[in-house]
Amino acid sequence: MKVGIVGAGMVGAATANALVLGRAADAIVLVDIDRRRAEAEAEDVRHASPFAGGARLLAGDWADLAGAGVVIIAAGVGQKPGESRLELLARNEAVFEDVIPKVLEAAPDCVLLVATNPVDVMTSVATRISGLPAARVVGSGTILDTARFRACLAGHLEVAPGSIHAYVLGEHGDSEVLCFSAAHIGGIPLSAFAAQAGRPLDEAAMARIDEEVRRAAYRIIAGKGATWYGIAAGLARIVRAIDADERALLTVSSVGAAADGGPPLAMSLPRLVGRGGILRTLEPRLDAREQELLQRSAAVLRAAVGTRPE
Ligand code: 2OP
Repeated sequence: MKVGIVGAGMVGAATANALVLGRAADAIVLVDIDRRRAEAEAEDVRHASPFAGGARLLAGDWADLAGAGVVIIAAGVGQKPGESRLELLARNEAVFEDVIPKVLEAAPDCVLLVATNPVDVMTSVATRISGLPAARVVGSGTILDTARFRACLAGHLEVAPGSIHAYVLGEHGDSEVLCFSAAHIGGIPLSAFAAQAGRPLDEAAMARIDEEVRRAAYRIIAGKGATWYGIAAGLARIVRAIDADERALLTVSSVGAAADGGPPLAMSLPRLVGRGGILRTLEPRLDAREQELLQRSAAVLRAAVGTRPE
Protein backbone atom coordinates (compact mmCIF):
# COMPACT_ATOMS: atom_id res chain seq x y z
CA MET A 1 0.00 0.00 0.00
CA LYS A 2 1.05 3.56 -0.63
CA VAL A 3 1.06 5.70 2.53
CA GLY A 4 1.18 9.49 2.65
CA ILE A 5 2.63 11.39 5.59
CA VAL A 6 1.81 15.08 5.95
CA GLY A 7 4.36 16.72 8.21
CA ALA A 8 8.00 15.70 8.04
CA GLY A 9 8.92 16.65 11.60
CA MET A 10 10.23 14.07 14.02
CA VAL A 11 6.94 12.16 14.22
CA GLY A 12 6.45 12.09 10.45
CA ALA A 13 10.03 11.05 9.74
CA ALA A 14 10.12 8.42 12.49
CA THR A 15 6.84 7.05 11.17
CA ALA A 16 8.28 6.75 7.66
CA ASN A 17 11.17 4.83 9.18
CA ALA A 18 8.87 2.60 11.25
CA LEU A 19 6.79 1.84 8.16
CA VAL A 20 9.92 0.91 6.23
CA LEU A 21 11.46 -1.26 8.94
CA GLY A 22 8.11 -2.88 9.68
CA ARG A 23 7.50 -3.50 5.96
CA ALA A 24 4.13 -1.84 6.37
CA ALA A 25 4.14 0.11 3.06
CA ASP A 26 5.38 -0.27 -0.51
CA ALA A 27 5.65 3.44 -1.12
CA ILE A 28 5.76 6.40 1.27
CA VAL A 29 5.25 10.02 0.27
CA LEU A 30 6.36 12.77 2.67
CA VAL A 31 4.71 16.17 2.23
CA ASP A 32 5.80 19.23 4.21
CA ILE A 33 5.69 22.99 3.77
CA ASP A 34 9.45 22.79 4.23
CA ARG A 35 10.20 20.81 1.06
CA ARG A 36 13.90 20.69 1.77
CA ARG A 37 13.25 19.05 5.11
CA ALA A 38 10.91 16.51 3.50
CA GLU A 39 13.51 15.73 0.82
CA ALA A 40 16.20 15.24 3.45
CA GLU A 41 14.05 12.95 5.61
CA ALA A 42 12.93 10.95 2.58
CA GLU A 43 16.51 10.52 1.45
CA ASP A 44 17.67 9.48 4.93
CA VAL A 45 14.89 6.91 5.36
CA ARG A 46 15.41 5.72 1.76
CA HIS A 47 18.80 4.47 2.91
CA ALA A 48 17.14 2.33 5.59
CA SER A 49 14.88 0.77 3.00
CA PRO A 50 17.38 -1.71 1.45
CA PHE A 51 17.80 -3.24 4.93
CA ALA A 52 14.09 -4.01 5.03
CA GLY A 53 11.46 -4.55 2.34
CA GLY A 54 12.72 -1.92 -0.10
CA ALA A 55 9.80 0.50 0.18
CA ARG A 56 10.05 3.54 -2.09
CA LEU A 57 10.45 6.93 -0.41
CA LEU A 58 9.48 10.21 -2.01
CA ALA A 59 9.20 13.79 -0.87
CA GLY A 60 6.34 15.19 -2.86
CA ASP A 61 3.57 17.69 -3.47
CA TRP A 62 -0.09 17.19 -2.60
CA ALA A 63 -0.71 15.57 -5.99
CA ASP A 64 1.82 12.85 -5.15
CA LEU A 65 -0.57 11.55 -2.49
CA ALA A 66 -2.79 10.19 -5.28
CA GLY A 67 -3.53 6.52 -4.73
CA ALA A 68 -2.52 6.51 -1.05
CA GLY A 69 -4.59 4.06 1.01
CA VAL A 70 -3.77 5.86 4.24
CA VAL A 71 -2.63 9.44 4.76
CA ILE A 72 -1.11 10.15 8.15
CA ILE A 73 -1.53 13.71 9.40
CA ALA A 74 1.42 14.55 11.60
CA ALA A 75 1.52 18.26 10.77
CA GLY A 76 1.22 21.00 13.36
CA VAL A 77 3.04 22.16 16.42
CA GLY A 78 4.01 19.95 19.35
CA GLN A 79 4.05 20.54 23.09
CA LYS A 80 6.71 22.68 24.66
CA PRO A 81 8.05 21.54 28.04
CA GLY A 82 5.25 21.87 30.62
CA GLU A 83 2.52 22.51 28.02
CA SER A 84 -0.48 20.16 27.91
CA ARG A 85 -1.69 18.57 24.68
CA LEU A 86 -4.97 20.50 24.85
CA GLU A 87 -3.13 23.83 24.76
CA LEU A 88 -2.12 23.19 21.14
CA LEU A 89 -5.65 23.12 19.80
CA ALA A 90 -6.20 26.51 18.13
CA ARG A 91 -2.86 26.46 16.32
CA ASN A 92 -3.27 22.96 14.98
CA GLU A 93 -6.89 23.43 13.92
CA ALA A 94 -5.75 26.18 11.52
CA VAL A 95 -3.20 23.77 10.05
CA PHE A 96 -5.91 21.13 9.49
CA GLU A 97 -8.22 23.64 7.74
CA ASP A 98 -5.43 24.16 5.22
CA VAL A 99 -4.15 20.62 4.85
CA ILE A 100 -7.13 18.27 4.86
CA PRO A 101 -8.93 19.55 1.73
CA LYS A 102 -5.64 19.25 -0.17
CA VAL A 103 -5.14 15.67 1.00
CA LEU A 104 -8.65 14.67 -0.02
CA GLU A 105 -8.40 16.32 -3.40
CA ALA A 106 -5.42 14.09 -4.18
CA ALA A 107 -6.48 10.94 -2.32
CA PRO A 108 -10.28 11.00 -1.97
CA ASP A 109 -10.51 7.33 -0.97
CA CYS A 110 -7.85 7.30 1.73
CA VAL A 111 -8.24 6.60 5.42
CA LEU A 112 -7.10 9.67 7.36
CA LEU A 113 -4.89 8.72 10.27
CA VAL A 114 -4.53 11.63 12.67
CA ALA A 115 -1.47 11.91 14.91
CA THR A 116 -1.39 15.65 15.63
CA ASN A 117 -2.16 16.65 19.22
CA PRO A 118 -4.48 17.08 20.99
CA VAL A 119 -5.23 13.98 18.96
CA ASP A 120 -8.80 13.30 20.06
CA VAL A 121 -9.97 16.83 19.38
CA MET A 122 -7.97 16.92 16.13
CA THR A 123 -9.74 13.70 15.11
CA SER A 124 -13.08 15.48 15.64
CA VAL A 125 -11.77 18.46 13.68
CA ALA A 126 -10.52 16.24 10.83
CA THR A 127 -13.86 14.40 10.70
CA ARG A 128 -15.75 17.69 10.47
CA ILE A 129 -13.46 19.31 7.87
CA SER A 130 -13.19 16.20 5.70
CA GLY A 131 -16.88 15.30 5.73
CA LEU A 132 -15.79 11.65 5.67
CA PRO A 133 -17.68 8.93 7.52
CA ALA A 134 -16.31 8.74 11.08
CA ALA A 135 -14.98 5.22 10.45
CA ARG A 136 -12.49 6.60 7.88
CA VAL A 137 -10.92 9.12 10.25
CA VAL A 138 -8.80 7.32 12.81
CA GLY A 139 -6.89 9.08 15.58
CA SER A 140 -3.83 7.39 17.06
CA GLY A 141 -5.54 8.03 20.41
CA THR A 142 -4.27 5.94 23.28
CA ILE A 143 -2.50 3.30 21.19
CA LEU A 144 0.73 4.71 22.60
CA ASP A 145 -0.53 4.91 26.19
CA THR A 146 -1.66 1.31 25.92
CA ALA A 147 1.86 0.38 24.79
CA ARG A 148 3.35 2.36 27.68
CA PHE A 149 0.98 0.62 30.11
CA ARG A 150 1.98 -2.80 28.79
CA ALA A 151 5.67 -1.91 28.92
CA CYS A 152 5.35 -0.85 32.59
CA LEU A 153 3.34 -3.95 33.49
CA ALA A 154 5.83 -6.12 31.63
CA GLY A 155 8.64 -4.63 33.69
CA HIS A 156 6.80 -5.07 36.97
CA LEU A 157 5.50 -8.59 36.29
CA GLU A 158 8.46 -9.86 34.28
CA VAL A 159 6.33 -11.08 31.38
CA ALA A 160 6.45 -10.23 27.67
CA PRO A 161 4.37 -7.12 26.86
CA GLY A 162 2.79 -8.99 23.94
CA SER A 163 1.22 -11.45 26.40
CA ILE A 164 -0.51 -8.69 28.36
CA HIS A 165 -4.07 -7.64 27.50
CA ALA A 166 -4.37 -4.24 29.11
CA TYR A 167 -5.76 -1.01 27.73
CA VAL A 168 -5.68 2.73 28.28
CA LEU A 169 -8.92 4.43 27.21
CA GLY A 170 -10.39 7.92 26.99
CA GLU A 171 -8.34 11.02 26.20
CA HIS A 172 -4.79 10.67 24.92
CA GLY A 173 -3.75 13.06 27.64
CA ASP A 174 -3.98 13.94 31.28
CA SER A 175 -7.43 12.42 31.92
CA GLU A 176 -6.72 9.03 30.29
CA VAL A 177 -7.87 5.90 32.13
CA LEU A 178 -5.61 2.93 32.81
CA CYS A 179 -7.95 -0.04 32.93
CA PHE A 180 -6.48 -2.31 35.56
CA SER A 181 -9.77 -4.06 36.37
CA ALA A 182 -10.23 -5.75 32.98
CA ALA A 183 -6.56 -6.44 32.31
CA HIS A 184 -5.42 -10.06 32.08
CA ILE A 185 -2.52 -12.27 31.11
CA GLY A 186 -3.43 -15.62 29.59
CA GLY A 187 -6.98 -15.22 30.86
CA ILE A 188 -5.75 -14.70 34.44
CA PRO A 189 -6.79 -11.35 35.94
CA LEU A 190 -3.82 -9.06 36.46
CA SER A 191 -3.93 -9.07 40.27
CA ALA A 192 -4.14 -12.90 40.39
CA PHE A 193 -1.27 -13.20 37.92
CA ALA A 194 0.78 -10.74 39.98
CA ALA A 195 0.17 -12.76 43.14
CA GLN A 196 1.09 -16.02 41.39
CA ALA A 197 4.25 -14.44 40.01
CA GLY A 198 5.22 -13.13 43.45
CA ARG A 199 5.11 -9.55 42.14
CA PRO A 200 2.08 -8.09 43.98
CA LEU A 201 0.22 -5.31 42.28
CA ASP A 202 -0.85 -3.34 45.33
CA GLU A 203 -2.20 0.23 45.42
CA ALA A 204 1.31 1.68 45.56
CA ALA A 205 2.48 -0.34 42.53
CA MET A 206 -0.63 0.65 40.56
CA ALA A 207 -0.16 4.31 41.47
CA ARG A 208 3.46 4.16 40.35
CA ILE A 209 2.53 2.56 37.02
CA ASP A 210 -0.29 5.08 36.53
CA GLU A 211 2.12 7.96 37.08
CA GLU A 212 4.73 6.41 34.80
CA VAL A 213 2.26 6.04 31.93
CA ARG A 214 0.32 9.30 32.38
CA ARG A 215 3.43 11.47 32.75
CA ALA A 216 5.59 9.67 30.16
CA ALA A 217 5.29 12.34 27.46
CA TYR A 218 6.08 15.13 29.94
CA ARG A 219 9.25 13.37 31.08
CA ILE A 220 10.41 12.67 27.54
CA ILE A 221 9.64 16.20 26.37
CA ALA A 222 11.54 17.62 29.34
CA GLY A 223 14.52 15.44 28.43
CA LYS A 224 14.67 15.67 24.63
CA GLY A 225 12.05 18.16 23.47
CA ALA A 226 9.48 15.81 21.89
CA THR A 227 8.44 12.17 21.59
CA TRP A 228 8.54 10.26 18.33
CA TYR A 229 9.64 6.60 18.38
CA GLY A 230 6.68 5.26 20.36
CA ILE A 231 4.03 7.07 18.37
CA ALA A 232 5.75 6.16 15.10
CA ALA A 233 5.59 2.46 15.98
CA GLY A 234 1.93 2.85 16.95
CA LEU A 235 1.07 4.55 13.66
CA ALA A 236 2.84 1.81 11.71
CA ARG A 237 0.82 -0.75 13.70
CA ILE A 238 -2.44 0.96 12.69
CA VAL A 239 -1.36 1.13 9.03
CA ARG A 240 -0.62 -2.62 9.06
CA ALA A 241 -4.04 -3.36 10.54
CA ILE A 242 -5.73 -1.32 7.80
CA ASP A 243 -3.63 -2.67 4.95
CA ALA A 244 -3.99 -6.34 5.92
CA ASP A 245 -7.64 -5.90 6.94
CA GLU A 246 -6.64 -7.45 10.26
CA ARG A 247 -9.68 -6.59 12.38
CA ALA A 248 -7.09 -5.98 15.10
CA LEU A 249 -8.28 -4.66 18.45
CA LEU A 250 -6.53 -1.35 19.00
CA THR A 251 -7.24 1.59 21.29
CA VAL A 252 -7.71 4.34 18.74
CA SER A 253 -9.78 7.49 18.60
CA SER A 254 -12.79 8.05 16.37
CA VAL A 255 -15.95 10.14 16.53
CA GLY A 256 -18.67 7.95 18.01
CA ALA A 257 -20.85 7.25 21.01
CA ALA A 258 -19.18 8.77 24.05
CA ALA A 259 -18.70 7.37 27.54
CA ASP A 260 -20.65 10.26 29.09
CA GLY A 261 -23.80 9.52 27.09
CA GLY A 262 -23.61 12.88 25.28
CA PRO A 263 -23.46 13.52 21.51
CA PRO A 264 -20.75 11.74 19.46
CA LEU A 265 -17.20 12.61 20.46
CA ALA A 266 -13.73 11.37 19.54
CA MET A 267 -11.97 9.42 22.27
CA SER A 268 -10.21 6.10 22.51
CA LEU A 269 -12.15 2.92 23.07
CA PRO A 270 -11.26 -0.64 22.07
CA ARG A 271 -11.96 -0.74 18.34
CA LEU A 272 -11.55 -3.27 15.56
CA VAL A 273 -9.35 -1.81 12.83
CA GLY A 274 -9.16 -3.16 9.29
CA ARG A 275 -9.71 -2.15 5.67
CA GLY A 276 -11.51 1.16 5.56
CA GLY A 277 -10.60 2.17 9.12
CA ILE A 278 -12.77 1.47 12.17
CA LEU A 279 -14.89 -1.65 11.69
CA ARG A 280 -16.44 -1.85 15.14
CA THR A 281 -16.28 -0.18 18.54
CA LEU A 282 -16.53 -2.33 21.64
CA GLU A 283 -18.00 -1.43 24.95
CA PRO A 284 -15.30 -1.90 27.59
CA ARG A 285 -16.03 -3.78 30.81
CA LEU A 286 -14.71 -1.64 33.62
CA ASP A 287 -15.22 -1.42 37.34
CA ALA A 288 -17.32 1.45 38.70
CA ARG A 289 -14.32 3.69 39.44
CA GLU A 290 -12.78 3.31 35.99
CA GLN A 291 -16.19 3.81 34.38
CA GLU A 292 -16.54 7.09 36.25
CA LEU A 293 -13.03 8.15 35.24
CA LEU A 294 -13.88 7.38 31.60
CA GLN A 295 -16.98 9.56 31.84
CA ARG A 296 -14.84 12.33 33.30
CA SER A 297 -12.33 11.94 30.47
CA ALA A 298 -15.18 12.29 27.95
CA ALA A 299 -16.29 15.45 29.77
CA VAL A 300 -12.76 16.90 29.54
CA LEU A 301 -12.75 16.27 25.79
CA ARG A 302 -16.26 17.64 25.36
CA ALA A 303 -15.18 20.85 27.07
CA ALA A 304 -12.12 21.06 24.81
CA VAL A 305 -14.16 20.56 21.63
CA GLY A 306 -16.48 23.28 22.90
CA THR A 307 -13.62 25.75 23.31
CA ARG A 308 -12.61 25.52 19.66
CA PRO A 309 -12.71 28.89 17.91
CA GLU A 310 -15.45 28.81 15.21
C1 2OP B 1 3.08 11.44 23.47
O1 2OP B 1 2.28 11.00 24.29
C2 2OP B 1 3.43 13.83 23.04
O2 2OP B 1 1.36 12.82 22.65
C3 2OP B 1 2.72 12.59 22.62
O3 2OP B 1 4.22 10.96 23.36
